[in-house]
Amino acid sequence: MQQYKGWEEFHNKPVEEKLPLFRQGGNIFDVIYAQQFKRTELEELFQIADRIRAISKTRTGTRFLSSLLDDKRAMLFFVQPSTRTFLSFQNACHLLGMKTSEIRDASTSSEVKGESPEDMIRTFSSYVDLIIIRHFNEGFAERAAWTLNVHASRAISVINGGSGKDQHPTQALLDIYTLERSFRDIGGLNGKKIAMVGDLKRGRTVRSLCQLLSLYEGVEFFFVAPEEFAMRGDILDALKARGNKFTLTDNFKEIMPQVDAIYSTRLQDEYDEKRESSAINYSQFIFKEEYLDLLGKNAVILHPFPRRNEIEVGVDKDPRALYWKQARNGMWLRMALILKLFGREHEVHNFA
Ligand code: NCD
Repeated sequence: MQQYKGWEEFHNKPVEEKLPLFRQGGNIFDVIYAQQFKRTELEELFQIADRIRAISKTRTGTRFLSSLLDDKRAMLFFVQPSTRTFLSFQNACHLLGMKTSEIRDASTSSEVKGESPEDMIRTFSSYVDLIIIRHFNEGFAERAAWTLNVHASRAISVINGGSGKDQHPTQALLDIYTLERSFRDIGGLNGKKIAMVGDLKRGRTVRSLCQLLSLYEGVEFFFVAPEEFAMRGDILDALKARGNKFTLTDNFKEIMPQVDAIYSTRLQDEYDEKRESSAINYSQFIFKEEYLDLLGKNAVILHPFPRRNEIEVGVDKDPRALYWKQARNGMWLRMALILKLFGREHEVHNFA
């Protein structure tokens, strides 16, 4: 296999030092880490997503949206299981008029013939204008973006659609968009209390979401997890550095009445090294229908899904249960992000 020199060295740098490679002309070009986003950029994405949502309500609007990127093509390289992220990205592309290609199983690509990841990514870039990647390997999306920025003549954007146990920046974008919309009329995100519940050690969605929430003043975190799967130190250090308060606990019921949002997650047992998940009693991290009475009237419940038994189905009909809206928000927000990456976002603001 041909070696491309330099990625290991780049990969081992602190994240902050790597971020400039993922920007072009002052704008985000590759979406690899949640830490890339400034608060103003989040607010801009929320506005674009709101506009897209409104425009899509009419047939004229839908036709207009599908003309915005009809000259562009995207590649969905999703070699780790995905339902929502895949479908919402695919539909986001289609609603913007983009054509898509996909690989969903590594065994059907030339990787099995001994092709290097770099050659494979450069091959994708010969055919498309955007590559969206979900991979079990934490550094894969970063490596793809590095390859195209450093070695390829055709630098095209890469979006991380979930990188192993590390990050899921676009899930965090749709999660914070959902939270922002529900708190818009009640003082916004500043100062809100957020409970994150479940396997926080290996849950990439919560890890990315913490990074985004810490851009808002005084957001306070309650990390509710079994001791074995507690939030990792890198995130706690980042929150400390930014002055966000947090509490680590395994007493879910006790914090329910205090919080503005519950973000529930499942056990990430696909990352088990020796069946360690099977030793965990997850029952105390389940949100039951009877707990709805404990929640504040403006509090909300989110879950990135898939759900196993973390939230009883009886909870779904409560207006504070936002997870179905959250999944749909993913499509609007991803459309906003893709438009922004191609610099075409002003067109939705000009649509009469
Ligand atoms: C999450 C993921 O893949 O990290 N799902 C998603 O993208 N909506 C959460 C999970 O699998 O538990």
